Amino acid sequence: MVQLFNTLILTAAVLGTVAYAQITAECGVGLGNCPSDKPCCSQYGVCGVGAYCLGGCDPKHSATIDSCAPAPMCKNIDSTFSNLDRIADKTKYLGDPSKADWVADGEPTIYDNQLLLTMAPDTVGTVLASTNYVWYGKISATLKTSRGKGVVSAFILLSDMKDEIDYEWIGVDLDTTQTNFYWQGVPNYTNGGNISLSEDTYNNFHTYEVDWTPDTVTWSVDGQVGRVLKKSDTYNSTTKQYNYPQTPSRVQLSLWPGGLASNAPGTIAWAGGEIDWDSQDIKDNGYYYVTFKEVKIECYDPPSDAKKSGSGSVSYIYDDAAGYESNVVMTDKGTVMKSFLGTGKNMTAALPASKTSSGASPSATDVETIPGLTGAGTGANGLRGEEETTTTGSASTSSETAASGSSDFVQQAQGSGADRVRIGGVVALMAAVFVGAVAL
Ligand SMILES: *[C@@H]1O[C@H](CO)[C@@H](O)[C@H](O)[C@H]1NC(C)=O
Ligand SMILES: *[C@@H]1O[C@H](CO)[C@@H](O)[C@H](O)[C@H]1NC(C)=O
Ligand SMILES: *[C@@H]1O[C@H](CO)[C@@H](O)[C@H](O)[C@H]1NC(C)=O
Ligand SMILES: *[C@@H]1O[C@H](CO)[C@@H](O)[C@H](O)[C@H]1NC(C)=O
Repeated sequence: MVQLFNTLILTAAVLGTVAYAQITAECGVGLGNCPSDKPCCSQYGVCGVGAYCLGGCDPKHSATIDSCAPAPMCKNIDSTFSNLDRIADKTKYLGDPSKADWVADGEPTIYDNQLLLTMAPDTVGTVLASTNYVWYGKISATLKTSRGKGVVSAFILLSDMKDEIDYEWIGVDLDTTQTNFYWQGVPNYTNGGNISLSEDTYNNFHTYEVDWTPDTVTWSVDGQVGRVLKKSDTYNSTTKQYNYPQTPSRVQLSLWPGGLASNAPGTIAWAGGEIDWDSQDIKDNGYYYVTFKEVKIECYDPPSDAKKSGSGSVSYIYDDAAGYESNVVMTDKGTVMKSFLGTGKNMTAALPASKTSSGASPSATDVETIPGLTGAGTGANGLRGEEETTTTGSASTSSETAASGSSDFVQQAQGSGADRVRIGGVVALMAAVFVGAVAL
């Protein structure tokens, strides 16, 4: 099995061929919870252990409320990008935010003291997620967007309960910044709002800020308020709850192919059409890219009535899957796993000695340990118009990706929401690097 696995990875990496992964959502709204042997429901709706239980792990749809690892607490950060030192690849990160400010999925690179998130032909782009969670704060990013049909640049906040606050840019409209918010991933197509800019977003750096308090979200561009959302305007009189983003969230920076041919028609239309992998930008650079100059996170105090256990200075957990602000508990629980076999219930789970010494990777064990990335965007941002909710659940795992390097290999769809996503050789190559890395 290990032999086969490695061979397939090599095939995909060496040939650099476009791989097709059969993507299957296993957990999430309408799909239920993960089983106890792979208890963690990843951001993309697939069950596993290890990195599945870290950032993005959905406590509501994991086996139990404590399956996910505790979430590292907010920390003030001012990221400038002269190197990749504070950016860890997802195949290396075990939950220690002192080692990295960002976790990368895809291909980030540094150019002229700026961070480029790249999207080469037939890849699903790049996502960076903050290692620390923000539970209210002021978050800003100074960036130049990408451009082109179907090319989507994004700067969002996304919680494990799928609360979301967004800035998004469609590559065919460089004069508009789209803003949006979601509560617990419930699609609501009336929540969007646009901010018009006088100077385009591709050629000019602008500073986009989200000021998120327990009562309001304010979107500001270059210091000018563009939109305000009040919590009081989101009250649902049926449930007597506020449908307002209110749970600890990671900051996510991304470039993704909304115009991927395999995405739902509404998403492709929203993104400005099918992506052109033969565009002048691709010919000139080899990839699409979005440029970040600086990202700042300033943490606000948690709500005055926030629950605490112990000193409450290390991590956030939930005490109930209802997932409201009042269900968040600030704790002293550690966030670091010993290996990629860890889960929230057993952070010290270790690789069996036989596996480590024989050089097998954790992903060559029976259970998935590193969630993949899809072309459907992060959070709910792949959902547009009249679409079904299945795109949120789309996901691949690194071993599916690797295995699918052989066109003969087709992962069986399990349950609903099966989707086909093209995944490039770059991702397969990352999987190969991963196998080498953990073999140490
Ligand atoms: C969407 O949100 C608005 C308020 O932001 C609300 O008036 C509307 O009823 C919501 N629609 C659904 C389907 O929840
Ligand atoms: C925002 O602008 C886009 C065009 O870039 C348009 O399709 C969309 O309907 C606008 N959204 C709102 C809420 O006005
Ligand atoms: C309130 O919540 C109920 C139950 O989830 C939902 O059906 C309804 O659309 C919501 N109403 C608004 C105004 O959001
Ligand atoms: C955690 O996993 C290790 C195996 O790596 C096992 O020996 C230990 O008993 C587990 N602890 C709990 C509490 O399940």
